[in-house]
Amino acid sequence: MIHLQEIYESLIDQIVDKGYAVGDAFLKEDTLNGLFNQLLTLQESDKMKAAGVGQLTEHEVNKSIRGDKIHWLTKNSKLPFEQLFNRQIEAYSAYLNRSCFLSINDFEFHYTCYPPGTFYKRHIDRFQSDRSRILSLILYLNKDWKKGDGGEIVLYPHNEPEVIIEPKWGRMVCFKSDELAHEVLPTKVNRYSITGWLKSVNSENIIQLID
Ligand code: OGA
Ligand code: NI
Repeated sequence: MIHLQEIYESLIDQIVDKGYAVGDAFLKEDTLNGLFNQLLTLQESDKMKAAGVGQLTEHEVNKSIRGDKIHWLTKNSKLPFEQLFNRQIEAYSAYLNRSCFLSINDFEFHYTCYPPGTFYKRHIDRFQSDRSRILSLILYLNKDWKKGDGGEIVLYPHNEPEVIIEPKWGRMVCFKSDELAHEVLPTKVNRYSITGWLKSVNSENIIQLID
């Protein structure tokens, strides 16, 4: 059994080194299964809704840019596996704050499904109008993902060759929201994940929004 702190250390070393990290043991199997079953339940009850592009007044659905369906998680969930997820995100954020002098004080995550034929074109996750997103984090929930299923994430680090990552069960990808361009290649099967951001919300961000 690998200690969680070792996993956090490895992720942080990679982020400092390359601007992104890939890890395969961020959550326990029970938690992954709970989250995955909840995603399927949301999908069956038609609670997954088309995601938007841009933010606030710019909000619009544009299938030529992204085709995923999403449902936001809440911080006061009563579901034990969502509580475990939230707690682990808090622990990871605290670890990041201590070791990288960051000031993460908030987070937001949604369940995500890309139906067959959908993708997300190359983009950067931080909005011009809201600079609170510090790190992007995606946790993949694709049991039995195999080559040919598609839906890989492609990262475009500055001055380096692109990196293609398979969206396999339990895998976590984490990167700096303000600088790393990335895209989701077209998927041939339903592609499941939890996607979110570790945020630093402060008065500066709020003034930005009011301006
Ligand atoms: C996003 C995104 C990548 C992925 O939602 O902003 O880029 O692999 N997701 O799902
Ligand atoms: Ni993105």
